[in-house]
Amino acid sequence: MSRALATDSPMASALTSGPRPLGLPAELDQARLPRHVALIMDGNGRWARRRGLPRVMGHREGVEALKRTLRLCSDWGIGTLTAYAFSTENWNRPGEEVSFLMALFERVLQRELQGLERERVRIRFLGNLEPLPLGLQRLIADAMARTAANEGIRFNVCTNYGGRAELVEAARRLAERVARGELDPAAIDETRFAAELHTAGENDPDLLIRTSGEQRISNFLLWQLAYAEMHITDVLWPDFDQAALLAALLDYQSRQRRFGGVDSPG
Ligand code: IPE
Ligand code: IPE
Ligand code: MG
Repeated sequence: MSRALATDSPMASALTSGPRPLGLPAELDQARLPRHVALIMDGNGRWARRRGLPRVMGHREGVEALKRTLRLCSDWGIGTLTAYAFSTENWNRPGEEVSFLMALFERVLQRELQGLERERVRIRFLGNLEPLPLGLQRLIADAMARTAANEGIRFNVCTNYGGRAELVEAARRLAERVARGELDPAAIDETRFAAELHTAGENDPDLLIRTSGEQRISNFLLWQLAYAEMHITDVLWPDFDQAALLAALLDYQSRQRRFGGVDSPG
């Protein structure tokens, strides 16, 4: 990331256009890269179990995979990366695992914030942040404020995020505005609805990657993934590397996106 996104580099402001990024694999067509990649980082527990380690060691290793992936996406000129870190359902896990994850998020954010600032990453946390430990909430607020004006890759971390909760909250907020007489129900359209979601202002993901072979959405970005291309790999999240990302992007570039239309009219 440091090479391609140094502050004086043209890549800092021209993420998906402009000169071909150094290091972008020759097999990839720069003009057809996804603008927004969404990521379900799954398989940490299985990765650890296969090594006879406690599950949480998989989470620790998963952080390295996320750093690697963020750097590659940034270097290759992908505009936005949105990663699923903790779902509204993940509170159902054993207390020690949840506590470990919260402490890990704090530690990683503390440790990585300077680097993110240096690399011009704009980090945001999407989800209902209120139930998170106070220390973590403060770090999140600080990280979002300190990187808000950055023009490098947009990095969204979905934390206590659930697609259904997000949709219900959006509906409730609009209903409240209607009840106060501020909004005409007839004025509620897709654009206005999308503006109430955590992802307001973002393009919808073009590509969803899920690791560890599970073929499901698990309550992730239910609205936003409407027309995303899906790439499911058996690679466990902590093993996700440059080759795995390249495979996902090549798979994406092999697809015909139709958005309900037809290939070649006539
Ligand atoms: C994904 O890995 C990380 C989180 C959900 C926080 P898992 O912990 O779900 O790993 P598996 O699916 O049990 O292998
Ligand atoms: C999805 O993984 C949530 C995250 C990656 C944060 P899970 O492991 O929680 O999903 P399920 O339980 O297999 O559907
Ligand atoms: Mg899992």
